[in-house]
Amino acid sequence: MFDSILTAPLSVLDNLPAGDIMTRMSVDVEQIAYGLLQGINQIFSGFTTIIITLVLMLTINIPTAAVVIIFTPMSLLTVRFFAKRSHKSFMILSESRGKVGAAAEENINNAKLIKLYACEQRSLDEFDVYNEEMNKAGFHSQFMAALVNPMSRYINYIVYIIVALIGAYIVINGQMSIGTLSVFLAYTNHFSKPFNEISGIMQELQSAAASASRVFAFIYCDKEPASAINSVRVNSVSGNVGFENVDFSYDNTRKIINNLNLSVSGGQKIALVGPTGCGKTTIINLLMRFYDIDSGKITIDGTDIKAYDRTDLRLLYGMMLQETFLFSGTIRENIAYAKPDASPEEIKEAAIATYCYNFISRLPDGFETHIDSNTTVLSQGQKQLLCIARLMLIKPPMLILDEATSSIDTRLEKHIQRSFMRLTEGKTSFIVAHRLSTIRDCDKILVMNKGEIIESGTHAQLIEKQGFYYNLYKGY
Ligand SMILES: Nc1ncnc2c1ncn2[C@@H]1O[C@H](COP(=O)(O)OP(=O)(O)O)[C@@H](O)[C@H]1O
Ligand SMILES: [Mg+2]
Repeated sequence: MFDSILTAPLSVLDNLPAGDIMTRMSVDVEQIAYGLLQGINQIFSGFTTIIITLVLMLTINIPTAAVVIIFTPMSLLTVRFFAKRSHKSFMILSESRGKVGAAAEENINNAKLIKLYACEQRSLDEFDVYNEEMNKAGFHSQFMAALVNPMSRYINYIVYIIVALIGAYIVINGQMSIGTLSVFLAYTNHFSKPFNEISGIMQELQSAAASASRVFAFIYCDKEPASAINSVRVNSVSGNVGFENVDFSYDNTRKIINNLNLSVSGGQKIALVGPTGCGKTTIINLLMRFYDIDSGKITIDGTDIKAYDRTDLRLLYGMMLQETFLFSGTIRENIAYAKPDASPEEIKEAAIATYCYNFISRLPDGFETHIDSNTTVLSQGQKQLLCIARLMLIKPPMLILDEATSSIDTRLEKHIQRSFMRLTEGKTSFIVAHRLSTIRDCDKILVMNKGEIIESGTHAQLIEKQGFYYNLYKGY
């Protein structure tokens, strides 16, 4: 399951709430384990009992043994009858567990938002729907499963009576002693016991089966297609990036990128600007191969990026986003995330270069301060600076900044720009920024609208043109 979390494509993870995946990983896996434990126990001991009593019964009286052998397994038919009827409830039960988990996760993550808009009652009502669904499915499945065992016992007792009657008849005819009959009846009881016991753990087995289907659905989700065989291994490039007639949509219905053509030569700083939702982040996602394009070609140094090893490709880029990614660990470990063997001097240097050093050294534990993604020790802007320090340390050959500096004050932004300049020197970089002042010095500004590049050029050229960019800039 965990491996799948790491290897599942983003498109799969986008569509599953984290709480649901967590429920699969905890509760559902537990259910499978429990079902297996019970099942294996019963099957092993049951199998042995059945074989031994079978042999013993056959040595005593073949026709009566035949009655037992033919009729006892009939109890399995009742098991099947009820199992079929409760299977759906078990599936719903397992799914609604996931929904309850997802609701809990969403409400924990959005606690502030819910309080802000006083939506507690609405959240509770929504939760009640899932909870009620779980309750109903739970009741139905338990009820059905609880019926199975008495029913199969009932059938086995009928078989017992039939055997007793046939046996009595044989005894009256003088072909068998009463002693032998009572031994035979004892074997009959033993023989049916495993069948009763298996029906007794039906609930666990079915619950395990329902959980297994959810767990394996996630494990066997469509994985990122493997890197091409003979994929090209790279660790340095000169950074020529090309887009040729690229089309892309997230869901195969709404085209987000439309016949995009672009050519960037190594070392250029490219800015992407345009209204929110025009597809800037999408272009970044395509460059990183977080999603694969529908048609066309993206190249780096003339080679289709599909030919590169996926991990190598991603390591070519250093990426900074508006959201910050911090891991549970010390500040030092967070800065050195992509280069765990960095020396303390290197880490300190990176922190100084990105203006982190001041606020880190003011913390009581300095670089050893423990943080995680929800940490309140650092402000949003400081978290961002840490992420920049992380990049500074690995100095990747190409850079992507997607609204990276939008939560940093303008004064700090200037500082950061200067350190970025150092970092991006001679490297191809893609910069998405809302504050147009940040991108004035870029070599090429691409103005996007609705998934297409509608203007491109330097700041001066675009201003002179008095088009879309000019209006954006004036408005800004
Ligand atoms: N993971 C996704 N799945 C489906 N649609 C998406 C996804 N990410 C973005 N979109 C859609 O793609 C369009 C472009 O988004 P994006 O590239 O993030 O815009 P922006 O230029 O603001 O960065 C938006 O309409 C958005 O709804
Ligand atoms: Mg964006």
